[in-house]
Formats: sequence, structure tokens, C-alpha cells
Amino acid sequence: MRAVVLVGGFGTRLRPLTFTTPKPMLPVGHRPIIENLVRMLAPAGVDEVVLALGFKPEPFMAAFPDGTCAGVRLHYAVEPEPLDTGGAIRFAAEHAGVDDTFVVVNGDVLTDLDVSALLAFHRRSGAEATLHLTPVDDPSSFGVVDVDESGHVSRFVEKPAPGTAPSNLINAGTYVFEPSVLARIPSGRKVSIERETFPQIVADGRLYAMATDDYWVDTGRPSLYRQANLDMLDGRRRSLVCVAVEPGASVDGSARIEHSLVAKGARVEADAKVVGSVILPGAVVHRGAEVVDSIVMGDIGERAVLRGCVIGASGTVAGGVSVSDALVPDPSAA
Ligand code: GDD
Ligand code: MG
Repeated sequence: MRAVVLVGGFGTRLRPLTFTTPKPMLPVGHRPIIENLVRMLAPAGVDEVVLALGFKPEPFMAAFPDGTCAGVRLHYAVEPEPLDTGGAIRFAAEHAGVDDTFVVVNGDVLTDLDVSALLAFHRRSGAEATLHLTPVDDPSSFGVVDVDESGHVSRFVEKPAPGTAPSNLINAGTYVFEPSVLARIPSGRKVSIERETFPQIVADGRLYAMATDDYWVDTGRPSLYRQANLDMLDGRRRSLVCVAVEPGASVDGSARIEHSLVAKGARVEADAKVVGSVILPGAVVHRGAEVVDSIVMGDIGERAVLRGCVIGASGTVAGGVSVSDALVPDPSAA
């Protein structure tokens, strides 16, 4: 079976990290998000993953030079221009010749969903499309459904105005589609699967959904991206855990690493202190610096103090300064 994974968005909310690395290539638990997704899909019988690429396709090809990821074959479909979620699904599925029931995943969600259970639910209900749902406190920044006990969806609203959502069950970003869904998506222009296609399938009574309380996070914002990494460290995932300091990271014996991840290719020098943070490949935390609740790809000067910051690959923080809640370089100046 094939799965289309949407990996072509700009990752705007994760700038400056995504200035250099597309969101699905950012590591969670020392593995690119896309690899985490492939590992979720494989046990359900997915033997080929179609990457719906747009923005920055090269890092994907470079990361998987033999065309496989975690033992699963990859097919690269690069859009000529951004086609939005629906347009991207149609383009990628046609590019790969998908003509049977297939799975679709948003390339920035991480979940312990059992994808075979979603497939079984889809087959039982005879749906044209089946969504995975998860409950959240504030549904206004997601797709929200009205669903009955059998899983029949009677309404789908993308990003409803606060206070108007029909329920607290949101589209968790993993779908099972019949190929007939593709024919509903006009070709050659931007189409939002959420705003255009799901409401059409609802109107024909053929959209179903399965809610689970499995671990779920959309990594698309810095606080949640950091959280997704710490959750892996804390053993919040059903069967996945990771080490704090990845083999190949350079950490001085006098540095203190508390509740943080340090990746291979990062360096933490003498007497530095890293707390609640994610230190990514290429980062350097110089002597005596203190990094708290931050994400770092860049260079942190000696005895600098950082709190709640996101430092991109070209970001530098001068020695001795204190910075809070900053994005470096500042994406709004780009
Ligand atoms: N190839 C391609 N082309 N991919 C795209 C494009 C495009 O033009 N636009 C977005 N994507 C990809 C993004 O890279 C991401 O993996 C996925 O499509 C979803 O886009 P986001 O920008 O992350 O959407 P969202 O988080 O605001 O909302 C979506 O996810 C929520 C769950 O996390 C929607 O599907 C919501 O309904 C859902 O609740
Ligand atoms: Mg998202």
C-alpha cells in the first residue's frame, strides 16, 4: 500500500529553523520527523511513501540518497508550484500512479496512532475518506468535525472562529482515501483538501472519522516542536524513547545537560548549562553559556544566557548577553 506524506509547506511558524531545514526534516528524538512518520506507516503495510514535495526538496533527497527511509521505498513528487494540501495530494498520487486505497499524512504530526486500526475502520464503514481525530482544548486552529457515534461526519470546518467549533474533536492529519477522492480535486491549481474537498465528501455522506486518545502533536510551532522532543526523552510515546545526548555529539565533561536533547554534530563546551532545550546539529554552545527552554541550531557565545529562544543555523548570540523569547535571526526582518 502507498502513503502520500505532505512535506511541501513553508514551515513559516517554525522560522528561523525552517530557513535552512524544511519542517519534516527537523529531528524529533534525533530522527527527522519524516522518518518518525515512515516508522508509523510501515507496520500498517505501507511499502512505498510518496513525498509530496514543494519548498526545499533537496534536503530530502540528500538525506535518503538510496531512495529508502527506515527500509521503506520513497517516491519523490516535486510540485512545479505550491498547490496547497489537496492539490499536492492529487499531484503526488498521480505522479506515483496511485490507483488503490491509500493513506495520507500531514508531514508535521507525530502520533502513536495504529494506522492499521484506521484502515480497518475505513473498510468497515465503507467510507470514501476516513480521518483520524484527536481531542484538544482549543480547536480553533485546526480542522474541526461534527461526528456521530458510528463515526459518520456531518460537518467539517477548517479553523473555525473561536467559540464556534462544533466539537473539540479535530482533524489529526492522518487519512485513508479511496482513489475516487482524487477525482474530486481540480488539477493544476491550489486546492485545500480541508476547505474544499472534505466539505464535498461530507455533502455526499461519505466522510467518516475515528477518534483516539493516542499521543498526538502537531510540531508546527516552536513550543510544540520542543515539546515533541522532550516527550520522546520523557518516555511519553508508546514505544519510542531516545537518549539525551546522541552518540557523535560533543559535550564537555563539565557541561550540565538537564532534561534536554543534544544532537550529533552539536558541541557544548566546558561549564555550559543546557536545560529543557533542543540542541540541533551544527549548534555550538560556548563555555559557560546557559541555554534554557530553547531550540538552537546556531552559535551561543561564552557566558550568554538564553531563555525561550529559537536560534536558527545562521543565528549568533554574542558572549555575555542575556536574551529572552527571541527568534534569531528575526524572521520578520527576512
Ligand atoms: N506539497 C505541499 N504543497 N505540501 C503542503 C502545501 C503545499 O502547497 N501546503 C501545506 N503543505 C503541507 C505542510 O508541509 C504540512 O505537512 C501539511 O501540508 C499541513 O499543513 P500545515 O500548514 O501544517 O497545516 P495546519 O497545521 O495549519 O492544519 C492542518 O493540520 C491540522 C492538524 O495538525 C489541517 O489539516 C488541519 O485540518 C488539521 O487539524
Ligand atoms: Mg501543521
